[in-house]
Amino acid sequence: MTPITNKASVVEITDYKYTTCSTSSGRTNLSSNFMGFFHSTFQVRCSTHGPTTAYSGTCRLDTGDCSLFKLEMRAIESMIEKYTAGLDNDIDSLMHPVQVLDRNTKHRSLSAETILLTGSTGNLGSQLLVDLLSRDNIQRVYAVNRPSSTQSMMQRHSDRFIDKGLDVSLLASAKLVFLEGDISLPDLGLSKIVLDEMRQDLTMIIHNAWTFGFRKTLPFFEDHVKGTRTLIDLARSSVQSEHLRFLFASTCSAMQSWDERKGPYPEKLISDAKHAVGSGYGESKYIAERILAKSGLRAASFRIGQISGLENNGAWPIHEWIPATVNAALRLGSLPIPNKEYQCRWIPMATTSKAILEIGFTEGALPFAVNLQHPQAISGKFLMRGLQKMIVQELRLPSDSLPLVPHEEWIASLEKSASVMKSHRYIQVIAKVHDRLPPDSPDMDLTQAMRLSETMRTLAPIENSDIEKWVLYWVKSGFLDRSMLHAWRNKDEDPSHL
Ligand SMILES: NC(=O)c1ccc[n+]([C@@H]2O[C@H](COP(=O)([O-])OP(=O)(O)OC[C@H]3O[C@@H](n4cnc5c(N)ncnc54)[C@H](OP(=O)(O)O)[C@@H]3O)[C@@H](O)[C@H]2O)c1
Repeated sequence: MTPITNKASVVEITDYKYTTCSTSSGRTNLSSNFMGFFHSTFQVRCSTHGPTTAYSGTCRLDTGDCSLFKLEMRAIESMIEKYTAGLDNDIDSLMHPVQVLDRNTKHRSLSAETILLTGSTGNLGSQLLVDLLSRDNIQRVYAVNRPSSTQSMMQRHSDRFIDKGLDVSLLASAKLVFLEGDISLPDLGLSKIVLDEMRQDLTMIIHNAWTFGFRKTLPFFEDHVKGTRTLIDLARSSVQSEHLRFLFASTCSAMQSWDERKGPYPEKLISDAKHAVGSGYGESKYIAERILAKSGLRAASFRIGQISGLENNGAWPIHEWIPATVNAALRLGSLPIPNKEYQCRWIPMATTSKAILEIGFTEGALPFAVNLQHPQAISGKFLMRGLQKMIVQELRLPSDSLPLVPHEEWIASLEKSASVMKSHRYIQVIAKVHDRLPPDSPDMDLTQAMRLSETMRTLAPIENSDIEKWVLYWVKSGFLDRSMLHAWRNKDEDPSHL
């Protein structure tokens, strides 16, 4: 990040959001965490434009008086207001009188759960699906996903299962019902017959589908927020609404402006939107949490930190930014040494899914907020040394070919290579988010997670053997290859190969 030194200058923010602004001295990268602004004596005239909003305001960075920050908070609050409208209504008013009668005679049966799961084609979603189908107390899982124009639902799931080394035969389970829908549409785009059936039997909704994107702004995620409200309405209009549990896959990014001097992020609803201001992704998850908290449902929001590769075969999708960072590092021929304070708390994939279900099915009261990250942090240096050792070993590189270099030095070579390899996807992506590298979640209170999940309590620290599995997975899939070492120096490298 280029420090801003001019006192009381005024700059125009021309790019949407806060990551880049134009100053009289040229383009300046700012921390994408908006709180980063408050380090300097500086005035910024801001105008931000999303598909549905346009704000302008001024920030005095010396006093912390920032109208843009307040505007963003207001945008969060107004989206909460929009999607909580009507939630004060009595749940019975949403039901047909026959359903109300039915509800009074039906009780949640712990031995016959009927689940609606969204996003089961994804990484965590497919793991949740496996774990649900393997449980005895489940009688049905409705897996709701958006359609694909090229592949059947079964094909998408079996591809994902094979990649992750999961038991594909589970997809033939009589408990599983695939449904094509669209969470942004009224009634999720599902037929009335299906919805009525679900309203009769649902005992749990696990809302896991979401798009990731740190550089996307809040308006981009509005359909997700809307979809969350639609699912809440479905839950509230269900016969078992009083007992139904709503589990939400949130993220630690919902607390992206949390001031760590206040201590670890608590496992409770935070009603002040200022702690959520930052990327639209985290803001939208925070909004969904607040709507859920107002729904009157038995709900739990899981603030998940960075999820690492799968325990059995190391599967860690290559489109995610940690694999992308490793790929970029190989091309640069070095790995960054993180700050001394950096603590890696990545939580493995199967552990995340198991913990969600252990807590979701807990017999006692469901806590509204649960934080999930690895309870035993490892140092950034241990992590980078592990990656260095395993990449060198698996690609049979000379032992000195991937040195650890100071973070600033690594960023400088990243920027240099980004200007040479303009069409290189990973280099370009990582160059844009480098102020967040290596990514981690803030320190979070884990009291509820540890109390209610045996898997969390017994989780072993990340070992070199885990790092080896991730690296092996990336090598086997061709994502890491020895020919990539120092590739950025070769300007003629064919981008189609990258
Ligand atoms: N991975 C992490 O480190 C991490 C950390 C914190 C929280 N989380 C949360 O955990 C959940 C799962 O993450 P993941 O890593 O498993 O993500 P993923 O692999 O990208 O899967 C996302 C799932 O959501 C679906 N989806 C995405 N956009 C959608 C849309 N507009 N409409 C309907 N469905 C949509 C995807 O469907 P398609 O197959 O059709 O694309 C896919 O099934 C997300 O809510 C995420 O925010 C993940």
